[in-house]
Amino acid sequence: MSLKGRNFIDLSHFERRELRRILDTAHDLKRKQKRGERHELLRGKSLAMIFMKSSTRTRVSFEVGMTQLGGHALYLQPSGTQLGRGETIADTARVLSRYCDAIMARVYGHDEVVELAEYATVPVINGLSDLLHPCQIVADMMTIEEYKGRLQGLKIAYVGDSNNVSNSIMQGCTIMGMNVTVGSPKGYTPRPEILKRATELSERYDTQLEVVNDPYEAVKNADIIYTDTFFSMGQERSKEKEEALMPFQVNSDLVGAAKKDVIVMHCLPAHRGEEITDDVMDGPHSVVFDQAENRLHAQKAILVLIV
Ligand code: CP
Ligand code: NVA
Repeated sequence: MSLKGRNFIDLSHFERRELRRILDTAHDLKRKQKRGERHELLRGKSLAMIFMKSSTRTRVSFEVGMTQLGGHALYLQPSGTQLGRGETIADTARVLSRYCDAIMARVYGHDEVVELAEYATVPVINGLSDLLHPCQIVADMMTIEEYKGRLQGLKIAYVGDSNNVSNSIMQGCTIMGMNVTVGSPKGYTPRPEILKRATELSERYDTQLEVVNDPYEAVKNADIIYTDTFFSMGQERSKEKEEALMPFQVNSDLVGAAKKDVIVMHCLPAHRGEEITDDVMDGPHSVVFDQAENRLHAQKAILVLIV
C-alpha cells in the first residue's frame, strides 16, 4: 500500500490501514529524532506553505519538520505573494507545482484547499480549513496511543463548539475504532453533512458516535476529554454564543465526571478561562503540550509518505 502522490485533505478519504501506516511512521520518526538518528528522507525536496490565516504550531512544525527531513519549506502569505493581488488559486497551484514537491495550505473556505488540489500536480495537505483540520487529529491520535497504548474501544468526548477540529475527530477517531461523543449546545452541533458522513464511518467501522447537548452526559466514562476555542478563526465573537458555550467549559468539575485516568486534550491555542480553566490546562490530566509536539512527528510522517 503506497500513499505516494495522495492529497491529505480529509481523513474520511483514508482507510484504517492507511491511517495506521501514517501513525506507525510518526511513532518511528519520533523515536529516530529522540535518538538523534538522521532521517533525511526528503533531501532536496521543497514544501510550499500557504497561510491565509495565522498559525504558530502548524507553521513551525511543518517548517522544522522539512528541515529535519533534509528538505526546505517556504512560508507564503497572500500579502507577500500575487495571491493577495488576485492571482487565482488555480494558477497559483499550477505554478507552485512546477517548483515544489508538495503544497500545504491553511485556508478559510474548505473549497479553496479542494480547488488547490484540483489544479496542483503535487500532493496538497490541508493545514486547516473552516471544515476540517486533519493533521491535528493524526497528532492527537498519536498522543492518545502514547498515553493509552491503543485507540480501539476508547471513548473520546469532544465538548464545546462543533468546528473543524471536532469534525476531523469524528472522522479520524471513528475510522480508528474509537467511540466518539460530541457534547455541544443546541445551535452549535455538527453540520448535518459532516454528521451523516461520520455516521456512515461509524457503521462501517462498528463504533459508537453520538451528539449530546449536556457536557456531563458527554464526558461520562470518557477516556479522553477534548476541547477547542469557542470562536474559530474567521468567526465573529458573540455574547450569545459565549453564553451557550460557557456551561461546556472544561474545568475540574467536568474532568471529575469522566474516568479517573482521563486525559485532557486541546489543539491549542487555548483561551484560558473560556473553554478551559488554568488548573485543568496545567493540571495532571492535561497532555496538551505533548499533542503540540506531536504535530511535528505526525506531519513528518504525512510528508514522507505522500511526497
Ligand atoms: N493547533 C493548531 O493548528 O495551531 P496553530 O493555529 O498555531 O497552527
Ligand atoms: N478551531 C480553531 C482551531 C485552531 C487551530 C480555529 O479554526 O481557529
